[in-house]
Amino acid sequence: MPALVLLGAQWGDEGKGKATDLLGGSVDYVVRYQGGNNAGHTVVVGDQKYALHLLPSGILSPGCTPVIGNGVVVDPAVLFSELNGLNERGVNTSKLLISGNAHLITPYNVTVDKVTERFLGSRKIGTTGRGIGPTYADKINRVGIRVQDLYDESILVQKVEAALDFKNQILAKLYNRRAIESGKIVEELLTYADRLKPYVSDTTLVLNNAIDEGKVVLFEGGQGTLLDVDHGTYPFVTSSNPTAGGACTGSGVGPTKISRVIGILKAYTTRVGAGPFPTELLDEDGEALRRIGGERGVTTGRDRRCGWFDAPIARYATRVNGLTDFFLTKLDVLTGWEQIPVCVAYEIDGKRVEELPYSQTDFHHAKPIYEMLPGWSEDITKAKTFDDLPKNAQDYVKALEEMSGAPISAIGVGPGRTETIQINSFL
Ligand code: GDP
Ligand code: IMO
Ligand code: MG
Repeated sequence: MPALVLLGAQWGDEGKGKATDLLGGSVDYVVRYQGGNNAGHTVVVGDQKYALHLLPSGILSPGCTPVIGNGVVVDPAVLFSELNGLNERGVNTSKLLISGNAHLITPYNVTVDKVTERFLGSRKIGTTGRGIGPTYADKINRVGIRVQDLYDESILVQKVEAALDFKNQILAKLYNRRAIESGKIVEELLTYADRLKPYVSDTTLVLNNAIDEGKVVLFEGGQGTLLDVDHGTYPFVTSSNPTAGGACTGSGVGPTKISRVIGILKAYTTRVGAGPFPTELLDEDGEALRRIGGERGVTTGRDRRCGWFDAPIARYATRVNGLTDFFLTKLDVLTGWEQIPVCVAYEIDGKRVEELPYSQTDFHHAKPIYEMLPGWSEDITKAKTFDDLPKNAQDYVKALEEMSGAPISAIGVGPGRTETIQINSFL
């Protein structure tokens, strides 16, 4: 069981941080392969709560080596503030490895993210404003700055000038902003070089060697399947590939080495930012899910939009990721509803549609078709085995499993590490 991927099956915030942390004690490496500090992963260990943005959740497990792969975009200021915060709390972060090929989020990428959103007005994506999209755009446009560029000043100067040449035209002429001086950017970036140096490595080589030696490598996705730039609800997506294939391109580990792909699936649905959301609840049930589930963004503090479970989304996640298992989270949040609606299919233009439509227009028009499942009122947060759950909670899980197309191998009944029912081992 050398390499496994753990990723979000919905629109992010499914509980990936908790799931990764849970496995962290038994794996040798935890690797972030895409995204950046747009992620907000919460880990609760005992009475301590950690919010991780850029660092892999495995950083909290002493035996585990955390890795930031080539597919990640790294804001060095955020990296050091996160490392400092953990060090102050006694967490040893010295094992961290960062790919020299990872791209850097520069201050101008953050500026472009913010002004673009402002310029889009009511058509905005609702990004986290962390410079994610513009940094990936620079990467694809071949004007990105990589971690390794910090160690060749003349190349760094040339690359920053090239990136700003074009951007300054846009900033000044289109957005009416002051041009950004390349010298200042280079100066700022170079201040990070020495401190970053001990972490920088050829992570592709390290990870492939580790897998060949039988070490266990866990890839931790940021965001979720429906925020994937290829497979998500484009254009209301992030600018990378959280889906399983992204683990390969974002780390340099081939698909033949990956044996298990675990989808983290919330027992209901949430979304942050703009875009379609068929089961969204704008009533007191939505408000109750938000309140009981604590559905407030870890990164931006925005309220999360909440809705019922959507089975076509789960099936879609199984399909595009080749999921082998689900980890169903936050089942405890549904305690207390007499009946729980679950979306089993959509009605689109008067027709019943079983699968997530590929057409953006159809998805915007999709109305959920609900099946009502009986609820439960017993406290389930102390449940340790599937049999400890009340019958209706068991039936809810079984129904979701049946609809979603992969076995539910673990169930979250609370935010803490131990508040988990393990049905099948992941390792
Ligand atoms: P991530 O981005 O996928 O890591 O998820 P977030 O950390 O953004 O949001 C998930 C939230 O749910 C966090 O506050 C977790 O502590 C919490 N959480 C995770 N699993 C469970 C669970 O099974 N039950 C409850 N009540 N909370 C959970
Ligand atoms: P985790 O890893 C939920 C959303 C933003 C916005 C869209 C694009 O905690 O699940 P971006 O800044 O990435 O260009 O924003 O993606 N988004 C997330 N939503 N959880 C996340 O991460 C997210 N990261 C980005 O709200 O709609
Ligand atoms: Mg999150």
